[in-house]
Amino acid sequence: MSGHGTPTPMTSHRADPLAGVAKVPGDKSISHRSLILGAMAVGETRISGLLEGEDVLDTAKAMQAFGAEVINHGGGKWSVFGVGVGGFAEPDNVIDCGNSGTGVRLIMGTMATSPISVTFTGDASLNKRPMARVTDPLALFGAQAVGRSGGRLPMTIVGAADPVPVRYVVPVPSAQVKSAVLLAGLNAPGQTVVIEKEATRDHTERMLEGFGAEITTEETEEGRVITLTGRPELKPQVIAVPRDPSSAAFPVCAALITPGSDVLVPGIGLNPTRAGLFTTLREMGADLTYENERVEGGEPVADLRARYSPSMQGIEVPPERAASMIDEYPVLSVVASFARGETMMVGVKELRVKESDRIDAMARGLRANGVAVREGDDWWAVTGLGPEGVPGGGTCESFLDHRIAMSFMVMGMAAQNPVSVDDGGPIATSFPIFEPLMTALGAKFTHA
Ligand code: S3P
Repeated sequence: MSGHGTPTPMTSHRADPLAGVAKVPGDKSISHRSLILGAMAVGETRISGLLEGEDVLDTAKAMQAFGAEVINHGGGKWSVFGVGVGGFAEPDNVIDCGNSGTGVRLIMGTMATSPISVTFTGDASLNKRPMARVTDPLALFGAQAVGRSGGRLPMTIVGAADPVPVRYVVPVPSAQVKSAVLLAGLNAPGQTVVIEKEATRDHTERMLEGFGAEITTEETEEGRVITLTGRPELKPQVIAVPRDPSSAAFPVCAALITPGSDVLVPGIGLNPTRAGLFTTLREMGADLTYENERVEGGEPVADLRARYSPSMQGIEVPPERAASMIDEYPVLSVVASFARGETMMVGVKELRVKESDRIDAMARGLRANGVAVREGDDWWAVTGLGPEGVPGGGTCESFLDHRIAMSFMVMGMAAQNPVSVDDGGPIATSFPIFEPLMTALGAKFTHA
């Protein structure tokens, strides 16, 4: 759980040129899915490189509560002894997913087609976030949900005793919603079909196939049509979790804006549904190269090399790229502050329902540090001040959002004056080694 402790203020001071190798932790999306699919297979799934952030640890605890055996061998190596599709037991207690929207929405999907009742809760951030986007399609399988007003947690889901398969067009670009429907479809008879108009991260589809489910994806005029045959026997897997591109974004962006930097971020998953930030940075003129490109565990992987890039230009980020970099807009807006000209980010309404309203949170913090921001319901624009041009000196609220806190720590590394956040505690939800990793590269963080 996060956000329940005393706030931890942090300040980031101008850094020395960043140098070295930044080994970021395992991918958060793949880590959640490894535990959940491992719990639905019969036998031992072995996972290495699991992200041991609070979000994923909460999912591990939840899988135990449903009856799977989850063993931490140390050093990122874990085993899950699954109970099989349809084998979830009713937990004795409330499932607390802490800060994690991915955790709660995927687990809701997974239990919704079993005849059990489960009450979910989370921290102050998660309990504000919309859950109807998941409970609406789960109702089509026959599950019932009762939560607080606005479809918010705490919420109880009564799983369908006699589930039916569904055909569902996902109304918002959300991999969590798509995945919840697919995971529910596992324990429904027949074929569950999910259609998404915009491609979102496809780890659930790739991993379900790896675990032996019958799943196909077809590109049609209607969008991506994903068809899953229910009630497979999932086979346990050996999974090496690739490093997280969303975490890699922080040392990469820090190196681009901090004078004299040259940083290598090895082994980063470059699944096209995740790599939009890196494409965008290169279009802005960033000195960012992919070295040693390879395929690992079915996912494209490369070592990223980022060097100080004083001549970046603002661009308009195409809306069709939004889903592939949705978690990276906060740190992109920091890079945009150090570029020349305006960076326009459009089609990004989903940013308003993340761990915080990320447009609002970033706009406030950027303005507090002397950067001009314009915003609308589903767009925002940052006026770049050029390299060395960002005044800094502001204190920003992190709103229980790890990526807001990390983004402003990156800003302070290259701003003229230190940048502070009121609470760096949420960073532990996704990137528990952020501070030692960034400090080893040359960052100067203090706690006041
Ligand atoms: C995730 C999907 C995205 C992303 C989140 C992880 C996933 O959320 O923001 O950090 O692992 O499926 P949405 O489904 O809300 O877009």
